[in-house]
Amino acid sequence: MIQQLLTICYLIGSVTFILGLKMLSNPASARKGNLVAAGGMTIAILGTIFLYSYQEDNTSHYLGNHIWIFVALLIGSIVGTMAAKKVKMTAMPEMVSLFNGMGGACAALISIVEFNHLINEPAHDVSSSKALIILLGLVIGSVSFAGSMIAWGKLNGKIKDFSFKGQNVLNLLVLALAVVCASSLVVNPNQGMMLYVILILSLVYGVFFVMPIGGADMPVVISLLNSFTGVAAACGGFLYVNKVMLTGGILVGAAGTLLTILMCKAMNRSLKNVLIGSFGGNKSVAGSGASTSSQGHTKEISLSDTAMVMSYANKVLIVPGYGLAVAQAQHACHELEKILTDKGVEVKYAIHPVAGRMPGHMNVLLAEADVSYDVLLEMEQANDEFATTDVVFILGANDVVNPAAKSDPASPIYGMPILDVELAKTVIVNKRSMKPGYAGIENELFFKPKTSMLFGDAKKVLQDLCSEIKNA
Ligand code: TAP
Repeated sequence: MIQQLLTICYLIGSVTFILGLKMLSNPASARKGNLVAAGGMTIAILGTIFLYSYQEDNTSHYLGNHIWIFVALLIGSIVGTMAAKKVKMTAMPEMVSLFNGMGGACAALISIVEFNHLINEPAHDVSSSKALIILLGLVIGSVSFAGSMIAWGKLNGKIKDFSFKGQNVLNLLVLALAVVCASSLVVNPNQGMMLYVILILSLVYGVFFVMPIGGADMPVVISLLNSFTGVAAACGGFLYVNKVMLTGGILVGAAGTLLTILMCKAMNRSLKNVLIGSFGGNKSVAGSGASTSSQGHTKEISLSDTAMVMSYANKVLIVPGYGLAVAQAQHACHELEKILTDKGVEVKYAIHPVAGRMPGHMNVLLAEADVSYDVLLEMEQANDEFATTDVVFILGANDVVNPAAKSDPASPIYGMPILDVELAKTVIVNKRSMKPGYAGIENELFFKPKTSMLFGDAKKVLQDLCSEIKNA
């Protein structure tokens, strides 16, 4: 009866993970999806703590150790809640990386503990398939932990890119050595110290794997490492014959892999190029506020002229980008939308799939400011509407509106789908300077006759614009 109850808990957990994932694919249901999956996870964890039992000496034993478990749960919950409440939207990839690393570390620790159990079993009970699963969890979990920590350090600026000639060959050698040692341990598990050699080799590989990758490519790397952690957790599921752990691990592994592929596709880059290329590392910085370049001259627009152009427009499309997140200008942006809507202007947002630095970055940012999902247009929908738009207002976006993606085969972003803002009657670009965005390249859109530049921090500019339009 108790075992059946536990199976039901696991079933609820697995179903809620799948439902939660499905709900995450729509901004309107994403928040609820997260809670549904977290609720299922809570049921699965409580089920394991109170209902799981194992047989020893022909008697059933329950987990026990409740005080240790609940103190650890309490500490983890407090730290997690405080970190999640404090984190800024721009630091979200950093936090995902840190939490993902903890998942990898858990999988590696489970492997160490279970390997020690395994070698203490009577010789005839030691199974190679069990040893293989334990070692897979150890290698993948350790690579994910070490790689995630380096990614976290790079994102918060504490660790710089580092590479040397022949590093890729050395990386492969370290990985091959770890695999050879693991194979030898599977064949003969009675070489206890070998486990720690594998652990060290895997940690070294994780560090070397991420070290040379450009800091700007970290979101893709984190998504890849996330899928590694999922696979490592799935190994734990196999080991304990725990269906919810297996389902959760496989879902994370598959979702992380798909996300990695989608991010690479949206940037029109191969995974190989991300992992061993140096995209975004070579920024050609045109000095701050510069108005001329090889492309020609830019035209500036004043705040009062911008207010006038927008107030008299029929339709305005706002293009948010990474700069909006940096400036934390989402609330001011929503305020502008409301003021213009009250004046009878139709206002919508054009969301590029890789605007910002993480998947769904702009959706989350605008949702935080209570912007209605009905006015958010996906790239394809927005591209159909630009031709009937009077003003496109670009707020801290750069690469996602760069026409070089269509016109310049030599450009690193050539082939990346972009927002066709040039189809609109007028384009106004807000950014602080002429510095390039993530890809480190100049944007010819800024030099086009229908484009005007409105320089300044997005939040300040939006606040001043709102007052200007209100007082007009
Ligand atoms: P970017 O091309 O990075 O451009 C952001 C612009 O914002 C910069 O040109 C910057 O110019 C401006 N900016 C920064 N702070 C600002 C502030 N306080 N106020 C106003 N402007 C500010 O951003 P994007 O157009 O959103 O493109 C995203 C890029 O990231 C793409 O290349 C994409 O491939 C890449 N990427 C995205 C993801 C995901 S999943 N979203 C993952 C990895 C990489 P100034 O410094 O002159 O102000």
